[in-house]
Amino acid sequence: HAQADTVKIGVILPMTGQSASTGKQIAAAIQLFQAQNGKKAGGKTVEVLIKDDAGVADNTRRLAQELVVNDKVVALAGFGLTPLALATAPIATQSKTPMVVMAAATSAITEASPYITRTSFTLPQAAVAMGDWAPKNGIKKVVTLVTDYGPGNDAEKYFSDRILLNSGQVLEKLRTPLRSPDFAPVLQKVRDAKPDALFVFLPSGQGAQFMKQFGERGLDKAGIKLIGTGDITDDDQLNDMGDVALGVVTTQHYSAAHPSPMNKRFVADFQAMHKFRPNFMAVGGWDGMRLLYNGLNASKGAGNDALMAALKGQVFESPRGQILIDAQTREIVQDIYTRRVEKKDGQLWNVEFDVQKSVKDPGKTK
Ligand code: DHB
Repeated sequence: HAQADTVKIGVILPMTGQSASTGKQIAAAIQLFQAQNGKKAGGKTVEVLIKDDAGVADNTRRLAQELVVNDKVVALAGFGLTPLALATAPIATQSKTPMVVMAAATSAITEASPYITRTSFTLPQAAVAMGDWAPKNGIKKVVTLVTDYGPGNDAEKYFSDRILLNSGQVLEKLRTPLRSPDFAPVLQKVRDAKPDALFVFLPSGQGAQFMKQFGERGLDKAGIKLIGTGDITDDDQLNDMGDVALGVVTTQHYSAAHPSPMNKRFVADFQAMHKFRPNFMAVGGWDGMRLLYNGLNASKGAGNDALMAALKGQVFESPRGQILIDAQTREIVQDIYTRRVEKKDGQLWNVEFDVQKSVKDPGKTK
């Protein structure tokens, strides 16, 4: 192919390091998307370049710069953690390069550049739904536990504010560091506080270790319920968590058990190709590719402002349900489900039992 017939998409992901499962899931979803939909969009061949930032923001920034300047990518995508997305925002702005956040989920990310849009979710979307569910289901006194950075701040604030509004009580707000967290000391504090439930946000990849310690320290036996955003019952790890995960209720935008025909096909095709179950990161990657293909078709392969305009306002069906990119905020609008971990045919699944339709990001004030 001549250069003029090709457009490149630069995808930056943590393929190694603590968040490698996020990179693995999204890269696998992109590969599936291109196998299913071909490599043509907007009359051009779409070439995806995947770069590993190992979850380190200095790497993300350098790789983004190289992709824009040397590879002349039409879009940047990926971004496994909030600091990695925020580090890239000025590059998107300066180069007028559309940037599709497929994973990171702090509300403020889409306000960091007019060239940012998102196909993952925001923690306020997920956390507010739990702040409504818990007090209606016998949970009045809670302790919160979140990872001490952007999405954890959002989860803690939006869950706490909502449960207070619903006459609940937050006994204590606990945090663990992003890197190499030790859950033992905080779990002891939870035991001592004797809440009805512990609300947890941890980033994808930390749920299994947390769940193991929650069980080992007997918090479930002590009658403390576990609730949280769906990140802690992540489909990448859920099936290996064991019985301690049974009955855990979470709120989020995606479950591999979502019963739509489109999702059943997505999960079957994904598992056939990759031999593991897709999680919410995979669906963010797959939908991000759909968003970019639709955008390139509308812009006839042009990038910059033409492509950015074509990303805004898109509505399409995702394996999670219908999604919309709000044209004003560039933020995703989507259904948020309440789910309970159940065993079916010997496997653990997040089984959806309630839904809030078309949830905008509660974190957007404008
Ligand atoms: C972020 C990362 C995660 O793995 C997750 O599950 C939610 C949010 C983040 O860094 O924004």
